Amino acid sequence: MIGPMSAGFLLAPSILSADFAHLGAAIREAEEGGADWIHVDVMDGHYVPNLSFGPVIVEACRRVTDLPLDVHLMVERPSTMLQDFAKAGADILTVHPEVDTHLHRTLDAIHDLGLRAGVALNPGTPAIAVHEILPMVDLVMVMSVNPGYSGQEFIPTVLDKMRTIHDWIEQRGLKTRIEADGGITAETAPLAAEAGAEIFVAATSVFRHPEGIKAGLEALRQSLQRQ
Ligand code: DX5
Ligand code: ZN
Repeated sequence: MIGPMSAGFLLAPSILSADFAHLGAAIREAEEGGADWIHVDVMDGHYVPNLSFGPVIVEACRRVTDLPLDVHLMVERPSTMLQDFAKAGADILTVHPEVDTHLHRTLDAIHDLGLRAGVALNPGTPAIAVHEILPMVDLVMVMSVNPGYSGQEFIPTVLDKMRTIHDWIEQRGLKTRIEADGGITAETAPLAAEAGAEIFVAATSVFRHPEGIKAGLEALRQSLQRQ
């Protein structure tokens, strides 16, 4: 379990671009490089065109790190899988309202399992989709690519959506935090930070950085310190 979310920027490298033959080593290196969370992209081949992994990989990650596991469920009917991911050791479960008919109930179910709850919005989903449930979510993940793959280009039009949600959070005095996911690099992270994001997911720019995982994290951190 994680405590209250600390202030400041958090880096959440996504293992989607890690070397799966050496996943434990990649996670350890990310941890040594100062990762705050480990982001795990779960894809079912239905909601998104790609297939990735399920609870057994979350459980494997849990065995090699104590960092919070930030599990992004890109699956149809996420409510049917919450218990399995909780049991596997997830700390945060984020679901897409586009595939969850009863979002309020799902968020309650995540909290009842003792986990943090997030809501992820695709680039084509308007901010209003989270307006009602904002007080009950720990994070809003604003997707800056269409979900399904790592290595895509950042979509800058989502910055306005981040600003809108950030304003709602401020106006209502909430503790909800904004997470940016997709195409995050040392160039785009500061743009998202300026629009209100505090948590940064990055697969390619960390796990495929030409100078290694630690250098990728360092580049992101430095770009955010110039904020
Ligand atoms: C996209 C995933 C992202 C992805 C990010 O469907 O939700 O977390 O791994 O990859 P990059 O950082 O390469 O855009
Ligand atoms: Zn993700």
